Amino acid sequence: MSKYSVYIVLVACIVGLVAYGCNQPKQETASAPENTFSVKGSVREMDLNPSPPPVFPEHEGKTEFLSYCAICHSLKYISSQPDFPAKTWEAEVTKMVAKYHAPVDSVTAKKIVAYLVAVKGKK
Ligand code: HEC
Repeated sequence: MSKYSVYIVLVACIVGLVAYGCNQPKQETASAPENTFSVKGSVREMDLNPSPPPVFPEHEGKTEFLSYCAICHSLKYISSQPDFPAKTWEAEVTKMVAKYHAPVDSVTAKKIVAYLVAVKGKK
């Protein structure tokens, strides 16, 4: 076998590989309704928290509320509640502190209750 035939075999291999590569189907991108599941080539992606986080109105105490009330659970626990009277919000915050050990001191707890009453209080 001459050394030229080695080159010919090599070139044939490269041409073959390139042709094979170009013939591969394009990576398809598809998405399911509401974008909860999508396909990118061989990668399947799933959004485990598809709905956006709840938005709370601006009011005094919002910073404390956002800082402490989302430590253990989603803020949806609060946004999905009906408008409660002040007593109920107070009991709710007290329960979070006493029963579940939310790290909220009494001054901050009062601010959070006032915030909840202002934005989700029963009128
Ligand atoms: C230390 C963890 C923790 C923190 C911090 C916390 N919670 Fe909770 N919360 C819980 C647990 C545990 C539950 C009960 C979950 C269940 O039963 O599925 C809960 C449930 C709730 C519920 C649903 C009703 C109920 O009583 O079960 C509301 C409303 C709520 N929390 C409000 C708040 C507010 C307001 C704050 C901020 C002061 C807060 N949480 C901070 C642990 C916490």
